[in-house]
Amino acid sequence: MEKKYLIKTYGCQMNEHDSERMSYILESLGYQSTDKLEEADLIIYNTCSVRENADNKVYGHLGSLKKLKEKNKDLIIAICGCMMELKEARDIIRDKYKHVDIVFGTKNINSIPYLLDQYNYSKERIIDVEETDDIDEIQDAIRKNQTSAYINIIYGCNNFCSYCIVPYTRGRESSRSEESILKEVKKLADDGFKEITLLGQNVNSYGKDLHPCTTFSDLLNKISLIEGIERIRFISSHPKDISDDLIFTIKSNPKVCKCIHLPIQSGSKRILKEMNRKYTKDEYLEKINKIKKEILDIAITTDIIIGFPGESEDDFLDTLDVINKVKYDQAFIFKYSKRTGTKAAIMDNQISEEVKSERFQILLDRVNDICLENNSKYLNREVKVLFDEISKTDKNMMSGRTDRNKIVHVKYNKDYLGKICSVMIKEFNSFALEGEIIER
Ligand code: 5AD
Ligand code: SF4
Repeated sequence: MEKKYLIKTYGCQMNEHDSERMSYILESLGYQSTDKLEEADLIIYNTCSVRENADNKVYGHLGSLKKLKEKNKDLIIAICGCMMELKEARDIIRDKYKHVDIVFGTKNINSIPYLLDQYNYSKERIIDVEETDDIDEIQDAIRKNQTSAYINIIYGCNNFCSYCIVPYTRGRESSRSEESILKEVKKLADDGFKEITLLGQNVNSYGKDLHPCTTFSDLLNKISLIEGIERIRFISSHPKDISDDLIFTIKSNPKVCKCIHLPIQSGSKRILKEMNRKYTKDEYLEKINKIKKEILDIAITTDIIIGFPGESEDDFLDTLDVINKVKYDQAFIFKYSKRTGTKAAIMDNQISEEVKSERFQILLDRVNDICLENNSKYLNREVKVLFDEISKTDKNMMSGRTDRNKIVHVKYNKDYLGKICSVMIKEFNSFALEGEIIER
């Protein structure tokens, strides 16, 4: 009988894509995917460590697997991802979660076959986390979506924002070779994919570490020459690294989507300095104005952290001011979470949970109002949508995105799934648009 695997993924798109790569490896080994824990012969938790609640979820879920392992002694439980790059988390797993069989790091994905063999042979727990900045050039994946694909272009981060654990879990910036990226995109185009999203903690640094060095704009332009790929997206960008060259590429290259994710994190000059973000509120706003002026109707999204140590009411009002000025199309708001090992974790003026919750709600309400106002402008307008998903909750509906990354729902029509088509917008809320396909 074929063996079954289940991967549970926490965190960002990079982790989602790492799980897609693991699926490819496991299915090459003859495993089949299942979404039922009881059916699985192998369970992998791909973890995130950006905020504490992600850690807690993993520990909670792992605890509940103990009973399953008692019932099925042959079940293999593995844990990987960012959390496992941290010694403290590995020690907790080693000491308190003895039913976990295999622990591996973010750079050991291609070693899965070897790790499974080794475990099956010895039946002894394996902990394998590599200390290397080398990256896997082999990136085959079984993708969940058959229209739109994620592609890794750069790993790690050199920025050391004072709140962030990523530089410690994902290491220093390391670009994939241009050759292997272009080869992968070409293959995706041949397989019928229409859209790709280039992934990296800081895509703007792409190519600086390559020999000969190259730029992110150059990569975008080269990818856009590949026939079949109609849309190119990318996440994430650091505001300090947005160059005129990149603004020009987004503006002039018709395949590059007119949307940009530019995490502000805080609007306060003082807090931004404490965060080590290397820009001020005014510099950020200047950049936004330039982008808006150059690229008509560009959609701008952001990440915001509230309750960073020492954040005063005035600092918070500065963040609110940025939201009011930029009028983001989407903003992901996070309560500051203390990450051991980062500079901010040892600051002594931590903000209470109560104040964080209060500020969080104020920002969320304001962001939702602005998104509603932005989306209202689409009413009775025609937009081009790439449909890539049948609705999970209503099989009669499907959804896709506009070039500006607006989610659009329409009635399911199989002829248009996987294609770009025109839609007349008839309804909207803060999060999405709804409309009718214009048949031509
Ligand atoms: N606490 C809260 N949010 C954080 N982020 C990163 N580190 C933390 C932290 N310690 C947020 C940032 C980043 C996003 C991916 O996660 O806003 O842009
Ligand atoms: Fe973390 Fe800052 Fe690097 Fe983003 S740029 S991954 S927030 S350290």
